Amino acid sequence: MSVLISHTPIWQALQTHQCSLATVHLRDLFAQDSQRFSHFSLNACGLLLDFSKNHITHETLHLLLNLAKQVELESHIELLFHGDKVNNTEHRAALHTALRNRSHYPILVDGQDVMPAVDAVLAKMREFSDVVNQGKWLGFTGKPIDTVVNIGIGGSDLGPLMVVRALKAYHCQPLKAHFVSNADSTQLAEILAICNPETTLFIVASKTFSTQETLLNAHSARRWLIEKLGSASAVARHFVAVSTNKEKVQAFGIDTNNMFAFWDWVGGRYSLWSAIGLSIAVMIGMDNFEQLLAGAHALDQHFATAPLAENMPVILGLLGVWYSSFWSAHTQVILPYDVALEYFPNHLQQLVMESLGKNVTKQGQFVDYATCPISWGTLGNNGQHAFYQLLHQGTQLVPADFLVAIESQQALDEHQLAVLSNALAQSHVLMQGRTLEETRIALQATGLQGKALEEAVPHRVFKGNQPSNTLVYQKLTPQILGALIALYEHKTFVQSVCWGINAFDQWGVELGKQVASKFLIELQKTEPNQDYNASTNGLLNYVKTKLSH
Ligand code: F6P
Repeated sequence: MSVLISHTPIWQALQTHQCSLATVHLRDLFAQDSQRFSHFSLNACGLLLDFSKNHITHETLHLLLNLAKQVELESHIELLFHGDKVNNTEHRAALHTALRNRSHYPILVDGQDVMPAVDAVLAKMREFSDVVNQGKWLGFTGKPIDTVVNIGIGGSDLGPLMVVRALKAYHCQPLKAHFVSNADSTQLAEILAICNPETTLFIVASKTFSTQETLLNAHSARRWLIEKLGSASAVARHFVAVSTNKEKVQAFGIDTNNMFAFWDWVGGRYSLWSAIGLSIAVMIGMDNFEQLLAGAHALDQHFATAPLAENMPVILGLLGVWYSSFWSAHTQVILPYDVALEYFPNHLQQLVMESLGKNVTKQGQFVDYATCPISWGTLGNNGQHAFYQLLHQGTQLVPADFLVAIESQQALDEHQLAVLSNALAQSHVLMQGRTLEETRIALQATGLQGKALEEAVPHRVFKGNQPSNTLVYQKLTPQILGALIALYEHKTFVQSVCWGINAFDQWGVELGKQVASKFLIELQKTEPNQDYNASTNGLLNYVKTKLSH
């Protein structure tokens, strides 16, 4: 058994260092160093990262970079890029970087270069998306496609949904996209109600092609189509599949000529770069899809080659470790000031929590330190009028990431300065706060005095001291979005290496799936359940009495 990272001198040095910083207000760190912004900011791939509003000093960075050396981060990065089986519990490589390898250098898995296969699928995606976009892919009744419905869940939904939303300004007209993921038939029914069967194309996206929700939705969509168009032959013109599982695609009844392949070395939450991104390619056109890949590739190259101290994902990852494991921060909030990034926090939830929500190391030892934070967030401007109160005056430490676009995709006079002033004001106030004395002076200036003044003051004090990163980019182009997503993927990888955990499996999801299939059978029986605990038996039996069998 190897030694847990928490039992090494560098970890202990970080703990001691944290104790010395714990009582220092961020405001004081800024007072001590007027160059903090230039000392703690980086530029790469069209992104500016200001990480100066964090609980760090030069000594902190020095220690965190030593931690990176202790865990041999650089050689782990190399292994990731070179197709090593970094996903050790599934004996697989994690080669999302190969999918966007625009330099086309060979990448070997089990001695075989994967790039020809990657390029062949990209070529097939180009051919298909061009045909659809030019109105030449005709439905069963001879009409061109105007609506795309992606049926998938988890990584086969969240990534494509997020990108298609984010790049709305690049949508090919007159195409519309919908995403169906949930087993609750309301979602599918609501979407089918606004689709024309003659002009709708379903993309069934599933790595395994055995995910319950996806197959349920795909079967129901197929029934709907056949019923509306009056022939099972219609399926061939209205269904395509994206999967690693040819047999299951065939068994479903989709012609494998209409299947787009990918490989077991693509993890679900890292799959939008593969054919799982077909809905993206169709909606924004293949040239723009390749720009998305190019942006991610640029960030990959930065990650693979920049010195650790100047490496954006490395710095973000180390800060993530710093807050989770040394500051007991239980959460991390993502706050885009760019409406196009509406679903970015949702995508990150899967990326971060499915990757890092682990309590054993790759060697199977239980960790004795905190790992994954709860990742959450929403559009910053909306959050201000909802949950920011807790960030300003609550009792939790909540590290925040502000994502800020200088330009909106759909600019209207006056709006953007309001967006920018809000974003910058929030990170400023969260860090700076307002002391008791400052509050008293501010309230006196409004005319308050005496007892009324003293009663009002504590409610209006802002403790500040909330750390944040601010990422600024000019405008959300496909390239910038590619870089942004890759940045968070690699940040997540850095954290996994520091914690010694496997970022690429998700065994925690499996037990729930198994029990759900068992309960599906239980719910079809009429006799009362006695096999589980009192609560589960009670609920199963209650639901059964309410179901009409
Ligand atoms: O249940 C979790 C999960 O396995 C995710 O990792 C994955 O993205 C999702 O299900 C969907 O899986 P599939 O693409 O095989 O349908």
